[in-house]
Amino acid sequence: MIEKGKTYVVMGLLDCDSIAYAIGQVVEQWGGNVIYTVQSERMKKIFFDRNKQWAQEDKDRLNVKYCDVTVEAEVKQLFDDVGPIAGVTHSIAYANPKTCLGPELHTDAIEDLKQGFHISAASLATVARYAQPQMTEGGGIVTLSFASQVAFAYYNWMGVNKAALEATVRALARRHGKECVRVNAVSAGPLSTKAAGAIPGFEELGTTWSKISPLPWDPEADKLEVANAAAFLMGPYAKKISGQVLYVDGGASIIGGELLPHERP
Ligand SMILES: NC(=O)c1ccc[n+]([C@@H]2O[C@H](COP(=O)([O-])OP(=O)(O)OC[C@H]3O[C@@H](n4cnc5c(N)ncnc54)[C@H](O)[C@@H]3O)[C@@H](O)[C@H]2O)c1
Repeated sequence: MIEKGKTYVVMGLLDCDSIAYAIGQVVEQWGGNVIYTVQSERMKKIFFDRNKQWAQEDKDRLNVKYCDVTVEAEVKQLFDDVGPIAGVTHSIAYANPKTCLGPELHTDAIEDLKQGFHISAASLATVARYAQPQMTEGGGIVTLSFASQVAFAYYNWMGVNKAALEATVRALARRHGKECVRVNAVSAGPLSTKAAGAIPGFEELGTTWSKISPLPWDPEADKLEVANAAAFLMGPYAKKISGQVLYVDGGASIIGGELLPHERP
């Protein structure tokens, strides 16, 4: 799945519900070394404070660095420090929920729109730029997307950012192919995390998925399936896959209309 003994950077750890945490766990399970990143030093402290009950050896085992992806110098410093790596996951997004999500498609908060685009889409290119020199034997960069082929209620500008993110994946796959660095996205179904909780109407997505996903979909348990796909794309079994969006959504993305009652899991 991933290369045993090699190092993988997993960016976007907030808490143990984060998709990043699940991806890191899978990489470790397959024998890889994981370097997680959180957004800031303060968030690193919050992460460990929240997990006070952990044994000190578990805390010591976790390699957590901080990096704000909108600060070019921090991204550069991170990858200068990590040494040779075989893959990176960018599991990061943010857009002001008041102006970028919700019932109204706002156009009067352009700074929020720019911030959302910077964090959620353009930052993948910053990460790729500074990660690539550390992937001397090639490697895999993976990011996390959501249903950009359709417009979901309330998702508004984040849906636009996800479409931009997927276009960035293709541009980067083209740019970094000569260095044998692959760039792909996993488009996940709805999963229970902090970021998802900030999306107005997120709970309704669970109901929606039960009507459009031919496979049963569990927003808690299926985080692991999403993490497996991200690990696969970072690893050597995906050596000739680049510029793709792999849907790990129970099949919801290919369904026209809703499943009929006899088709439901
Ligand atoms: N949860 C879902 O239903 C779902 C579905 C599909 C895709 N995704 C995507 O998965 C990714 C991870 O989200 P999650 O659901 O694990 O939520 P999460 O809240 O656990 O993770 C989001 C992460 O983005 C980080 N972040 C925000 N701004 C940053 C910045 N400037 N620099 C560095 N980090 C920053 C946050 O600190 C956090 O760690 C996101 O791209 C999200 O859109 C989530």
